[in-house]
Amino acid sequence: MAILDILIYPDPALRVQCRDVTEFDDKLKKLLQDMFETMYSAKGVGLAAPQVGVPLKLFVAEWEGGRHVLANPEIIEAEGSERTDEGCLSFPGIYEEVARPNKIRILYHDENGRRHDEVVEGFLARVFAHETDHLNARLLIDHLSALKRTFLRKRMGKKARSA
Ligand code: NI
Repeated sequence: MAILDILIYPDPALRVQCRDVTEFDDKLKKLLQDMFETMYSAKGVGLAAPQVGVPLKLFVAEWEGGRHVLANPEIIEAEGSERTDEGCLSFPGIYEEVARPNKIRILYHDENGRRHDEVVEGFLARVFAHETDHLNARLLIDHLSALKRTFLRKRMGKKARSA
């Protein structure tokens, strides 16, 4: 297993359009192991493949002891709205209030290519929505007001230059 580098905003690779996962092989399983390892080491609850430079529709998450692997996720229904502080491993140290649905219905493939149709609520729905956003090149910053976006861009730009 290997700990992968997590790309930090404004890395352009965070804005690529991801491809569907079509091969559910050992190579995918190896990538998933590395993604879990990377997520644990960064103390995150979710990590999307483009965050480690792999442009695939794939993310991992862990919440309350449940490990989740979602490939080709598609949110087909969303209900309710809740505003809560949210973070992202590609925006270290940033927590901003983001509105997300309370309840979603999501279609996806697991690591073996089996299809699932699930209804997810609460915090896990937030995580799944956040990670699905990554696969569509949508980031935490895109959910903020224009003023906050400008502030955050400046702050992250400075960080990138001093790194
Ligand atoms: Ni994120």
